[in-house]
Amino acid sequence: MANKKAVSAQMDAIALLMDDHKRVKGLFEEFKKFEDSPEGEFDDLKQELIDSACAELKIHAQVEEEIFYPAVRRALPDEDALLNEAEVEHAGAKDLIAQIEDGSADDPMTCARFTVLGEYIDHHVKEEETDMFPKVRKAHMNLGALGKSMSERKEELKAEMGVTPYDEVPDFASNGAEKRASLWERITSATTARVSR
Ligand SMILES: [Fe+2]
Ligand SMILES: [Fe+2]
Repeated sequence: MANKKAVSAQMDAIALLMDDHKRVKGLFEEFKKFEDSPEGEFDDLKQELIDSACAELKIHAQVEEEIFYPAVRRALPDEDALLNEAEVEHAGAKDLIAQIEDGSADDPMTCARFTVLGEYIDHHVKEEETDMFPKVRKAHMNLGALGKSMSERKEELKAEMGVTPYDEVPDFASNGAEKRASLWERITSATTARVSR
């Protein structure tokens, strides 16, 4: 894992965004496994999944809005409508994230909002990956350089927001790393416990 940062620094802009999409999708999928748990069971785990997904999404959206979308607008001047729609969808997701962050995993309405957020993100990601990204690939942009600035901005935002993504545990000595590492351990053992019931 120590070289994960180096690997992501080498990803081009689209690979970096698709990697984010996959990671966030994974968090929503894990959440689904615990969605119908009896009241009070796995609330801590659900809360951590909610916190991780919301943090990842906020950073991802900000990097797209600050760096990726403006670069795409410059390269594809005829695609304003596509970019406008994407930004409106971001605004909707951010509203929902703010409501989710005001609640907690022991409230069924917060869990319902999080599930709807997952559906919303699914739709948005599908549009980016099947419509926007193929057009961007054809536009001959410098996606390598763009990916590098996006990766750097992500690191800055993570530091600003105090976020350690759940799957980035460079070394167990650094603060907070152990907590995030144990999120996966707890998901695995909670899933096993449910399956064996
Ligand atoms: Fe987006
Ligand atoms: Fe995206």
